[in-house]
Amino acid sequence: MKIKIKICSCLLLVCIVLIQCKQKGKEETNPPDLDTAEYLELCRPQYHFSPPAHWMNDPNGLVYKDGEYHLFYQFYPDSNVWGPMHWGHAVSKDLLHWSHLPIALFPDSLGYIFSGSVVIDHGNTSGFGIDGKDPMVAIFTQHNPVLEKSGSDKFQYQSIAYSNDNGRSFHKYKNNPVVPNPGIRDFRDPKVIWHAVTKQWIMVLAAYDKVIFYNSTDLKEWKRAGEFGIVGDTRLWECPDLFPVKVEGSNEEKWILITSIQKGAPNGGTATSYFVGDFDGKTFTSDPAHQKWLDYGKDNYAMVTYSDIPADDGRVVAIGWMSNWQYAQVVPTEVWRSACTFPRELRLDKVGDDYFLRSLPVREIASIEKNKLDIKPGMITQNLRIMNDFSLAKLDMTFKRPIANTITIRFSNSMNEYMEVSYNPISLKYEIDRSHAGNTDFSDDFPGIHSTDASFIESENIHFLILIDHSSIELFADNGFYTMTEIFFTSVPFDRAEILGNEDTNLLQGMVWELKNTWR
Ligand code: FRU
Repeated sequence: MKIKIKICSCLLLVCIVLIQCKQKGKEETNPPDLDTAEYLELCRPQYHFSPPAHWMNDPNGLVYKDGEYHLFYQFYPDSNVWGPMHWGHAVSKDLLHWSHLPIALFPDSLGYIFSGSVVIDHGNTSGFGIDGKDPMVAIFTQHNPVLEKSGSDKFQYQSIAYSNDNGRSFHKYKNNPVVPNPGIRDFRDPKVIWHAVTKQWIMVLAAYDKVIFYNSTDLKEWKRAGEFGIVGDTRLWECPDLFPVKVEGSNEEKWILITSIQKGAPNGGTATSYFVGDFDGKTFTSDPAHQKWLDYGKDNYAMVTYSDIPADDGRVVAIGWMSNWQYAQVVPTEVWRSACTFPRELRLDKVGDDYFLRSLPVREIASIEKNKLDIKPGMITQNLRIMNDFSLAKLDMTFKRPIANTITIRFSNSMNEYMEVSYNPISLKYEIDRSHAGNTDFSDDFPGIHSTDASFIESENIHFLILIDHSSIELFADNGFYTMTEIFFTSVPFDRAEILGNEDTNLLQGMVWELKNTWR
């Protein structure tokens, strides 16, 4: 037994030293030069956030402070596949143009830095603030690979770090971890919010197949308060989020609990889901049968919302990771791997007795729109070109609901690669077919026609709002009720689009904007 403990301590020590050496090297990393060729490489997103180089996954610690939107993210600076996690960091004044900052959090002797959130500690409840200013406090999971290998179940726990210079430097709390592991292997991704009614901090934490809520008055001492899950459902939950939102057009307030699900998404693999319900400071109540999808496409995981958006703005703004764990590590990019969704505003609508979140691109997009083209409305019996010679675009098309034929918008390029977005009036589904969209053979789970059941709200007309970038498409159909995000890897960007003609395709209104690159 004693020998075992000694071996473990030695291993731990070696690990600490290795990590510290690595940390030293990394602290000297400068933000990249944005004019480098990396940003012009094939498939590099031109108006979506991607790391300058190497691997990223979940967005973390989304928070607004002093005119800056912060985007921290799961980052492995030494490779383009997942590895010991750090928090990468970028800031933006408009959610569109991002400045890369040095790495915010490095692994330490307690482990890697997994997903989590950031709050602005108004009133300095933690005591971390200096000079009367509110500190920024990051709450994150530490994943200890040494403990994991040793066979323990307690290798994930929650730690905190604070910053008094708007996230430019963080200091880890000396008594970490603040939430030790109670014996649950998957115990991670804390999202912390201030609950004004009970005047305390709430942490929602993914604990394998459910979420657990904790309360605190100072961000350091946490007490378990309640939990929420689906009886009999043993899928792995990750990256929860919890926030109140007003129902559109009324004063009713509901709470949204977001959880990302590691298996069994509508089109396979990973996706972000939500519940609509109520929260009393201790626990969340909703009908668990009513789990809904925030995005039906294959590539929006770990979507979470911004904290501290000023009250006079009042929006709920969310960003997700544009990939799927089924193939995230093998997608054909070299320098960088993975990008974020376009930032979205989430709104809650009541339809009959039910509630649905709608997603739409944030209004800031208007500042990168140019060369608006109005498409003449009318019956489209022959294929009609609506995009020619540009590859970054927003398309907004409303059609009369078809009777028997599918409405299709086809994106293509000079290499005969193409991708189709359509509405099928027989199956009542929106579909994205990326089977012919360039390189798809790196994973069996990648190619295919992916769809969303659009039968629960049958709008009068069929509406496609589409954002297309060099390796992603985002469809916000029927004013954002049905959202699909999909990535693709073509030999050259899609620089053409056409509406396919048939006797059912009646365009009521059509607009196309070219979008500006946000890196130059
Ligand atoms: C979700 C996730 C989180 C975890 C992180 C590790 O994609 O698995 O649960 O904190 O990624 O990088």
